[in-house]
Amino acid sequence: MTRTPILAGNWKMNVNHLDAVTLVQDLGQALAEAGYDKSKAEAVVIPPFTDIRSVQVLIDGDKLPIAYGAQDISAHDDGAYTGEVSGTMLSKLGCSYVVVGHSERREYHEESDELVNAKAKKIIEAGMTPIICCGEPLDVRKAGKHVEHTVGQIKADLDGISAADVAKLVIAYEPIWAIGTGETATADDAQEVCGAIRKAVAEMYDEATAESVRIQYGGSVKPGNVVEIMSKPDVDGALVGGASLKAADFAKIVTFY
Ligand code: G3H
Repeated sequence: MTRTPILAGNWKMNVNHLDAVTLVQDLGQALAEAGYDKSKAEAVVIPPFTDIRSVQVLIDGDKLPIAYGAQDISAHDDGAYTGEVSGTMLSKLGCSYVVVGHSERREYHEESDELVNAKAKKIIEAGMTPIICCGEPLDVRKAGKHVEHTVGQIKADLDGISAADVAKLVIAYEPIWAIGTGETATADDAQEVCGAIRKAVAEMYDEATAESVRIQYGGSVKPGNVVEIMSKPDVDGALVGGASLKAADFAKIVTFY
């Protein structure tokens, strides 16, 4: 099974809808200059909700070889849920991906695995692909419980999702202590947990599903470390925060191959 690597830039709460235009145009140009071949790696940007329409206008209709998505979704369909954004709203804006369960949402918004699971199901129902985030805090890593912790999250997050849907989705392993800190997990650290997640998917479903699901690493990925991280057999891409805000750096990450 050949899995196409997926390099996704999570802009988090950065870049307004005007600056998004410049960032996407610059990224398109940097990818073209680097001779980007989308059969070798998939480039994705994940802007804030307010920027998605700006991004859609620049990308849709194959104007640029970049997919885009959202950073969150409501667990509800529609109605009186002030401040929420539904799956239908996102899919109508052309989103292909939605990030769910990012550690920043788990920590600052107390999102549970149960909610992450409900949101992942809404993403699938709306015809989009979840990028389900998981990963351990530093104290769990120091206690040597990182594999158990992360696999436990994924088992709960995938509960009730069919093998066919799991085969198409993306899992992002992000050790919390490596996010935005400049401290990257080693490539072997990334492989250890990404490999354990794939094994768990094989046990929950079957080998074919496990071979198909794409597993990203996230946490201080930069042009200088992406090649080593991507050399590991169970690492199929990266979820990139800070370095995705600079078009030249993100283009280098996407064209790591
Ligand atoms: O969603 C992205 C991750 O949280 C990684 O962020 O590349 O700034 O460490 P970072």
